[in-house]
Amino acid sequence: MIRGSSDAADFVLRQTALGHPALVPEIALRLASDALPLWHATEEVLSAEGLPPPYWAFAWPGGQALARHILDHPETVAGKRVLDVGAGSGIAAIAAAKAGAARTTAIEIDPFAIAALRINSGENAVAIEILEVDPIGRSDLAADIVLIGDLCYERPMADRLVPWLKQLAGAGTLVLLGDPGRAYLPKAGLVEVARHLVPTSRELEDREIRETVIWRLAG
Ligand SMILES: C[S@@+](CC[C@H](N)C(=O)[O-])C[C@H]1O[C@@H](n2cnc3c(N)ncnc32)[C@H](O)[C@@H]1O
Repeated sequence: MIRGSSDAADFVLRQTALGHPALVPEIALRLASDALPLWHATEEVLSAEGLPPPYWAFAWPGGQALARHILDHPETVAGKRVLDVGAGSGIAAIAAAKAGAARTTAIEIDPFAIAALRINSGENAVAIEILEVDPIGRSDLAADIVLIGDLCYERPMADRLVPWLKQLAGAGTLVLLGDPGRAYLPKAGLVEVARHLVPTSRELEDREIRETVIWRLAG
């Protein structure tokens, strides 16, 4: 049974190895080396304890594309306050911190992702604020930019997330979504910013490359 944050950190370290996402080799992350067995094994352990599957052990196409874009265009975040919502491994947050954001906050609801975020920010020697909260609907998390890497994969979450993001964009926040064509991406109000071919694993994504778009949500 997993009881606290040091158990969660041990679990992350035991289940992963240090690796480099294909599109963003300059970032080091604790990643699942063998995607499918780990996903199932970990999912069983975690779901027995009522915890979500190990999204934090993978660099999803949306996060990889966002991180690539930010590292190639540091002016997007330099000197700004950045929130990475549903940060997972922290790939986009780490890219923002490396690119010179004034403050980077990685937000997660999964305690294992929180452990992974602490480990991964240390591996990349960047300072990131890490918050375990559900931010959706909150107006007190001040930011200039909100990053959303691959979060439109489930209807219940997208139904809550998208109206909140629209509200933020309407109030002047730059909202960038990295998305490889997930089912619940909004159908309107998106402006294409960039497009990347992201190498991925056939076990995880059913194909070897996912074309992934960075969208700006219109205000
Ligand atoms: C598919 S993963 C994407 C992780 C990362 N952004 C990337 O692109 O690699 C989605 C993440 O969103 C997190 N998540 C889901 N609902 C959330 C919520 N309401 N608030 C914060 N994080 C959430 C999950 O725990 C999961 O780690």
